[in-house]
Amino acid sequence: MACTCVIGLQWGDEAKGKIVDILTAEHDIVVRYNGGANAGHTVVRDGRTYKFSLLPTGILSPNMLAVIGNGLVVNPVRFLEEVQGLRQQNVSIGPANLALSDHAHLIFPYHVEEERLNEQGSEQAIGTTGRGIGPCYQDKVGRSCGIRVGELRHPEHLRSRLQAIVPRKNALLRALSPQAKQFDADALCTEYLGYAREIGPYIQDTTRLLHRALASKKRLLFEAAQGSLLDVDHGTYPYVTSSNSSTTGVWSGSGVPARNLDRVIGVLKAYTTRVGRGPFPTELTDGPDGMGERIRRTGREYGTVTGRPRRCGWFDAVATRYTARLSGADELAVMLLDVLSEPEEIQICTAYEIGGQRTDDFPGDAFLLERCKPVYEKLPGWRVPLDQARKLSDLPATARRYVDRLSELLNLRVGYISVGPDREQTIMC
Ligand code: IMP
Repeated sequence: MACTCVIGLQWGDEAKGKIVDILTAEHDIVVRYNGGANAGHTVVRDGRTYKFSLLPTGILSPNMLAVIGNGLVVNPVRFLEEVQGLRQQNVSIGPANLALSDHAHLIFPYHVEEERLNEQGSEQAIGTTGRGIGPCYQDKVGRSCGIRVGELRHPEHLRSRLQAIVPRKNALLRALSPQAKQFDADALCTEYLGYAREIGPYIQDTTRLLHRALASKKRLLFEAAQGSLLDVDHGTYPYVTSSNSSTTGVWSGSGVPARNLDRVIGVLKAYTTRVGRGPFPTELTDGPDGMGERIRRTGREYGTVTGRPRRCGWFDAVATRYTARLSGADELAVMLLDVLSEPEEIQICTAYEIGGQRTDDFPGDAFLLERCKPVYEKLPGWRVPLDQARKLSDLPATARRYVDRLSELLNLRVGYISVGPDREQTIMC
């Protein structure tokens, strides 16, 4: 296998980091191609917990080169904080094992302020992570105000760009709120040139780097951030993130043609979660003693980046069949199966009902998804802890039946089943 992509098939937080971590031994380079420090990936290795937001989780493996591709938006403060935090956990990080694309876009404090003002008390709020992701991508696509990482290497040029951009940003922010924060171009430039000194050694033309790696038969591992249902083009728009979080982003976000991918692993939870606003047909809103709350408690379903409680619900086979097709998944990784050990009965959404009609199709618009009622199939629960299971035969028949049913509904084989956060708590099928 030369190129693998690990992708989330739901609304993010599917525990992709764990699968990436397992696969690092079979690859040479790990590449992130979308998003920014809005992602929250947790890897538990030998009882130690490592948290990632912007850096590829694959950097934990000493012989791996980690690449932050051109498709990302990078806040240098977060970059440096994360490098520092991981070093404190004895993870060795330097320009020899981490490359940052010169084409990635820079997040500035005015992006964070713009997002704050847009989100605050607004009926249109998306429920974002508040990291300036959307406004930075807006500037990337709008072109005149976007600044790329590579521009940090040219101080005079950076200063003149900021002198042109910052007054426009200040005017925009004031229009959004008279109390908006205002920024000073020269102060920002000095601040960012300070970061540039530390970040400079990591900056590279990562597209060229990856093309060379492919030519010398290096094995690449693409690590998606967020889930496919948050994809800006194909997800539950407008309640999405601002990048292509499905496999569709690999090509544009790294410069590596998607035809190089020969394995796509679709990662999903045995149930569904979502943070932020937007339709969620299988959401369980059954109160403090209800199933939704029980899943949240058992699965510790709180956002890694923002700490927000995640909305929880049953597995949705309509949504994941759609994202598995969208992302060209070859196989599935079913995560957090152990979290469902409590209920007597487990439900799976196999179709939707909309306007009295039954459908297997995932609607293309969030406002239509809002009207969909889930049609459930019930399966018996297993009601025993699964955290000690290490092979398929260790699972009770009811748990195997549940996983088989997910596989059948998505028409894909299951390659991995996770029964706990540790790397060891994984069944390879
Ligand atoms: P943004 O990416 O901060 O603009 O947020 C847009 C939407 O995506 C919000 O609903 C966020 O909660 C959601 N989101 C962004 N990153 C993640 C993630 O890593 N996991 C789950 N949801 C995310």
